[in-house]
Amino acid sequence: MSERLPIQYNKKPCYDIVFTQSFDTLWDELEALENSCSNKRLCIVTDSKVNELYGEEVLGLLKGKCLKAVKYVFPNGEEHKTLDTVKGIYKYLIEEGFDRKDMLLALGGGVVGDTAGYVAATFLRGIDYVQIPTTLLAQADSSIGGKTGVDFDGYKNMVGAFKMPRLVYMNLSVLRTLEDRQYFSGFGEVMKHGLIKDALFYEWLIDKMYEICDRELDILQEMLIRSCTVKKMVVEKDPTEQGDRALLNFGHTIGHAIEKAKGFSLYHGECVALGAVAAAYISWKRELLTMEEYYEIRDMFVPFYLPISVENIDPQEILRLTKADKKMESGKIKFVLLKKIGKAFIDNTVTDEEILAAIKEIHFSDEDAHA
Ligand code: GLY
Repeated sequence: MSERLPIQYNKKPCYDIVFTQSFDTLWDELEALENSCSNKRLCIVTDSKVNELYGEEVLGLLKGKCLKAVKYVFPNGEEHKTLDTVKGIYKYLIEEGFDRKDMLLALGGGVVGDTAGYVAATFLRGIDYVQIPTTLLAQADSSIGGKTGVDFDGYKNMVGAFKMPRLVYMNLSVLRTLEDRQYFSGFGEVMKHGLIKDALFYEWLIDKMYEICDRELDILQEMLIRSCTVKKMVVEKDPTEQGDRALLNFGHTIGHAIEKAKGFSLYHGECVALGAVAAAYISWKRELLTMEEYYEIRDMFVPFYLPISVENIDPQEILRLTKADKKMESGKIKFVLLKKIGKAFIDNTVTDEEILAAIKEIHFSDEDAHA
């Protein structure tokens, strides 16, 4: 059964997240939008991997129902989240005669959603777009809240814009075709939502661990509704990250640094898990969390196949990259710590020594192996 979660922007209804288990109602949802899609040109933006699985199916649902339905496919991978890809999409839209009342459909994971969203934010000073997220990471996090953008010179999301989608359409059955590693990496973001705002949801995740690992669709639907409800609360209160939205960066400060140092060979959600362990460690060392809570948080990533330590990193390099990330304010790192499970806060007094100690905690070195 379909369910929906309405999202407000500046206290006014903005778009709905639709949770469902197929693409069957996609066209009805598009037609029900304020300016129905029948008189629009629609361009699906997707990557080579998602295109093979769902590109033709989704295109087939649109063909003959709107003015024109086309598809732009770019190669899969974080290394394609660039201004070059954006340029390729602009050129294609111009060739296909797209104008300001037309619309993009971002069909894919976080890279596709962020890149297509950035095109939508900038092409002809902004056109509409719909998010159709196909990874757990994109469903739990990146498709909601209107953050769009691309990486620049190896720096994550360095160029971007806020642009709210018109609709987020989540077909949860697509999660069943994800490779295990891709699927489980999304739990970095799901668990983050429990840890920062909703202790009961965090406990529910632990309770439903086996059903979640088996990808039972009704459980996944409940999980995503609860996870998206946390994200909704945060982005509705602070849509453009003037304050509390930064709580969603829990685990991302050190996480992004590891992602870059490892040349993007680890998945984003895996790096978020490592960053979350490091942030929980600092919270324990500041006596905000007990030792038991720290170890519980750390060890809960394990059943979801997420890493809690990482090999071959240079802690000093990670510290340097952490400070080069954009989560800085007046030269200070905006670090997200935990007061307790389900209660995060932003702190800009975390010292280099604390960060280094946390990086060493998650660094699996040869010395550990021989101890
Ligand atoms: N992924 C963090 C945010 O949407 O703010």
